[in-house]
Amino acid sequence: MRAISYRRTGGPEVLELLDLPVPDPGPGEVRVRLAFSGVNPTDWKSRSGATAGALGTDAQVPNQDGAGTVEAVGQGVAPAVVGQRVWVWEAAWQRRWGTAAEYTVVPARQAVLLGEGPSFELGAALGIPFLTAHRCLTLGEALPDRLGPGALAGRTVLVQGGAGAVGNAAIQLARWADATVVATVSSPHKAQLAAAAGASHVVDYRQQDVVTEVRKVAPKGVDVVVEVAPAANAAVDAQLLGPHAAVAVYANNGGDEVTLPVRPSMTPNAQWHFVLVYTEPERAKVIGVEDVNAAVLDGAVRVGEEAGLPLHVFPLAETAQAHRAVEEGAVGKVLVDVTA
Ligand SMILES: NC(=O)c1ccc[n+]([C@@H]2O[C@H](COP(=O)([O-])OP(=O)(O)OC[C@H]3O[C@@H](n4cnc5c(N)ncnc54)[C@H](OP(=O)(O)O)[C@@H]3O)[C@@H](O)[C@H]2O)c1
Repeated sequence: MRAISYRRTGGPEVLELLDLPVPDPGPGEVRVRLAFSGVNPTDWKSRSGATAGALGTDAQVPNQDGAGTVEAVGQGVAPAVVGQRVWVWEAAWQRRWGTAAEYTVVPARQAVLLGEGPSFELGAALGIPFLTAHRCLTLGEALPDRLGPGALAGRTVLVQGGAGAVGNAAIQLARWADATVVATVSSPHKAQLAAAAGASHVVDYRQQDVVTEVRKVAPKGVDVVVEVAPAANAAVDAQLLGPHAAVAVYANNGGDEVTLPVRPSMTPNAQWHFVLVYTEPERAKVIGVEDVNAAVLDGAVRVGEEAGLPLHVFPLAETAQAHRAVEEGAVGKVLVDVTA
């Protein structure tokens, strides 16, 4: 099969297009013929060596997310899933077979039935961003542990960085769950994207005072902050916490060290809660996959400019450029068409 892979960590140039044997599914696994691979910051960070464990001796195929069709099953997996369209999550997490290839093999539960309606582009955009967003929206003690229509009714969600991939997912899932969603952005174009995703209120944090603007929508504070840049935003977040609110910190954009005013978080009994999607509790992962899939089957999740998530599609041989685009902050969703 045609597969992108790397044997040493480094810049995008370590990615090579190779001809590798088609992998066979082991017990409990499925083989998926991929259509699209989704690219996330985690993929270039792993490839660069910034976050990866030691590489094995085999070439590593990058990228966690993808979508395609189940082609074969290993021992113990019902053959009925052969031919089914699926989305794939965490294909390369502590495994060799990422999604930047014509085929991957994953444990059966990591290939989730997509049905006939949703596109493969949408399927490949789900895994990392939507599972992370789901975790952020459900981890507070004043939040439901499941999402679905009505689950966040009466609650206000602040999404810092609403035009990012995770920010977009948080807006879409929170709106599906009937929350009031406020998003911050840094430009008028990103404001349009956050509004297209479903944010009811958008604040340009370069032009407006975030605390003043969010207080207009949520005078008693918000229920959860989905936070991409805690070093930059902690003081603002702390002033916006409603009773028993949570700040879900899922990234360190803009700095690794956080300074927190203590008292404003004590008064509302707030939680500062950190998120890494790979290592979240098992029950949260199971629920996240189920709820994200339910949102997709409900027609509540979309991709493309009109959903606030412009698509940028690269052919398989240009996966290095796709990684570079994500590293350089492409706005929207970067995908690799593995058939091109
Ligand atoms: N913990 C996890 O499990 C997990 C999962 C997924 C992603 N991540 C991490 O999360 C980060 C974002 O991933 P992504 O795929 O969403 O990337 P992305 O699409 O590039 O989005 C990043 C967003 O962060 C926003 N941002 C940066 N500084 C900001 C600030 N001070 N205030 C508000 N927004 C700010 C940017 O908006 P502006 O340019 O407008 O500021 C941009 O929209 C990456 O570091 C990634 O590695 C972590």
